[in-house]
Amino acid sequence: MTKVIRIDRYNPEIELIDYAAEVIKKGGLVAFPTETVYGIGANSFDEEAVKRIFIAKGRPQDNPLILHIASIDQVYDLTVEFPEKAKKLVQKFWPGPLTIVLKKSSKVPYINTAGMDTVAIRMPSNSIAHLLIKRAGVPISAPSANVSGRPSPTDASHVIEDLYGKVDVIIDGGKCDVGLESTVVDLTDEIPVILRPGAVTLNMLQEVLGEVRLDPFLLKKPDMDIKPKSPGMKYKHYSPRAEVYIVKGPLDKVVKKIKQLAKNQLKIGKKVGIMATVQTSTQYEEGEVIVVGDREKPESIAKNLFEVLREFDRREVDVVFAESFDYDEIGLAIMNRLEKAAGYKEIEAEGS
Ligand code: TXA
Ligand code: MG
Repeated sequence: MTKVIRIDRYNPEIELIDYAAEVIKKGGLVAFPTETVYGIGANSFDEEAVKRIFIAKGRPQDNPLILHIASIDQVYDLTVEFPEKAKKLVQKFWPGPLTIVLKKSSKVPYINTAGMDTVAIRMPSNSIAHLLIKRAGVPISAPSANVSGRPSPTDASHVIEDLYGKVDVIIDGGKCDVGLESTVVDLTDEIPVILRPGAVTLNMLQEVLGEVRLDPFLLKKPDMDIKPKSPGMKYKHYSPRAEVYIVKGPLDKVVKKIKQLAKNQLKIGKKVGIMATVQTSTQYEEGEVIVVGDREKPESIAKNLFEVLREFDRREVDVVFAESFDYDEIGLAIMNRLEKAAGYKEIEAEGS
């Protein structure tokens, strides 16, 4: 009932794209690759189809979706106002991993926006995503193609794991380049606010716009009493089945602490995972050690993070100790996802 189609993103076969576009037009669900993560898409104007996305993912209805477009004209159709700041941003960063939040037009069914009067819009750069939206001829609403709460999928195998049997088509277009979801920026107020950090960083946005703020909610442990502007940020996310702990401090101390924690857990019969880096992996002798990336190339860590979290599940570890990263540039997005995966459980290595 789910058809898996392989498409070469460097040379996308248009008949295969058209098959998937036809499924979207008829109200079906298509999982497809983007440069950030895989999405599960439906025609944004088809309320019934969009409802099916929430069911397939087990997603709470109060968490709005991003509408994916293939041409700038579509922004005018979906919004009542396309402010100058938003125009500057999309000129610089589209197509690419940036989502803008604007005031929605009456054309956008409320099912997409969880009843809010704002709408999130993004133009992906992945060739398969671009062609699919273009050939479908409508905006495609698409959350990440994982079961709600699980790590976002960065490879078709992850989508198959989570959604086989729940969607009509899964397009296998290989591994995603960025590996973390798009940066979400709210442009409905005077000063732009980052609601979710991503590969388009605070500095990059400030270079174009001047003042940009981080949603204060981003740096805090979620509290169910606070209502964040981005409803998705309040849910437990990106969680593997294992308990994840982030170990913080100077790197040499972090390694020492993780080794000690791992030994203690092994002693009591737990299966231990360690999320290491190129710089540290040879220092660990205990547990299942997986290298997430190179500290000198933080994009490599972003690209592999979700896959590594899923790999720990495949290896059935009970507890994962993860090294921490700096909060600057793309590190902010990496730590935001890692903290959610860990449910904000942290251990200080200092003084050990
Ligand atoms: O990279 C991405 O953005 C991926 C790919 C598939 O494009 N999509 C994605 O969608 O991450 P999703 O649904 O997993 O995350 C969308 C985020 C959620 O945190 C949601 O709350 C927020 O965007 N969002 C959507 N509409 C919003 C709105 N009108 N106002 C504020 N936040 C909004
Ligand atoms: Mg998601």
